[in-house]
Amino acid sequence: MVDATASWTCHLRPHHCHGCAQYAKHTSYAKPRYGPTLNAHTVPTVHANASPWEAGSSLFRASSLSDWLRPEAAAFPGLHLPRRPSWPNYQVEIDQVQGDFRAEGDFGALETTVSKVEGGSGWDFEQAADDLLGRAKLPQDLLSIIKDDICQFGSTVASLCPWSKSFIVKLELMGEDSCPRWHMDSYCGRGIVTYNLAGTEYATDDIVDFWELEHCGNNDCIIKDKSKIRQVNVGDLLFMKGKNFPGGRGLVHRSPDVQYQNGAVLNRLVLKVDVP
Ligand SMILES: [Fe+2]
Repeated sequence: MVDATASWTCHLRPHHCHGCAQYAKHTSYAKPRYGPTLNAHTVPTVHANASPWEAGSSLFRASSLSDWLRPEAAAFPGLHLPRRPSWPNYQVEIDQVQGDFRAEGDFGALETTVSKVEGGSGWDFEQAADDLLGRAKLPQDLLSIIKDDICQFGSTVASLCPWSKSFIVKLELMGEDSCPRWHMDSYCGRGIVTYNLAGTEYATDDIVDFWELEHCGNNDCIIKDKSKIRQVNVGDLLFMKGKNFPGGRGLVHRSPDVQYQNGAVLNRLVLKVDVP
């Protein structure tokens, strides 16, 4: 039986990496019962990218969503649009809707499939937004921002993936059930925005041990240089290619560590636009 709280070092492979399979299969990673204490109305500090065109970056950094459709963006496993949040930290309000979201399903997500526009060739993200957000009891200004994101960000994701037969929009609360293991998604792609706490972490290929990524479950084995781990900010728009993105390579990423306050988990509110 593997002790999930142990600190793993995988110097030999594959025989001495026996604990990793358990890590890959379960979500019981080593995590503190009481993590960092945050003031619920303190804007968190995150380490964003150092420069717009950093050598070896896995992200194409844009100044508008339309830039993501430029030919030079196609070679990158991730597309990024930095954005400073225009909304306050709604941690308290987000934690308060935890019960409503949990009632929707196992993973605490409101979810809807986007339909084709009637009589047109595009996708009706506005209808999807109305369907989804009518079920979310969150502050009105935050709902308006999320609706704009679903419509504009969602439409851009659809333009990036014109071959896709469907898109799924999810508004999700991510607490202790989030998955902090480094991975590439197993589908075509995902657009993601985080509205509080901390954004998605990602890694450039040069610091990833891809054998460990595929065969081992231990984060300490996968990342060769932790000082080079990157993280997008709260509010940023991010598109991550998955393993099945046509002709592309996926972005290696993870959810940030779960945060606690006075022993209670703090939830992240996350919008996802999935390309199956
Ligand atoms: Fe993922």
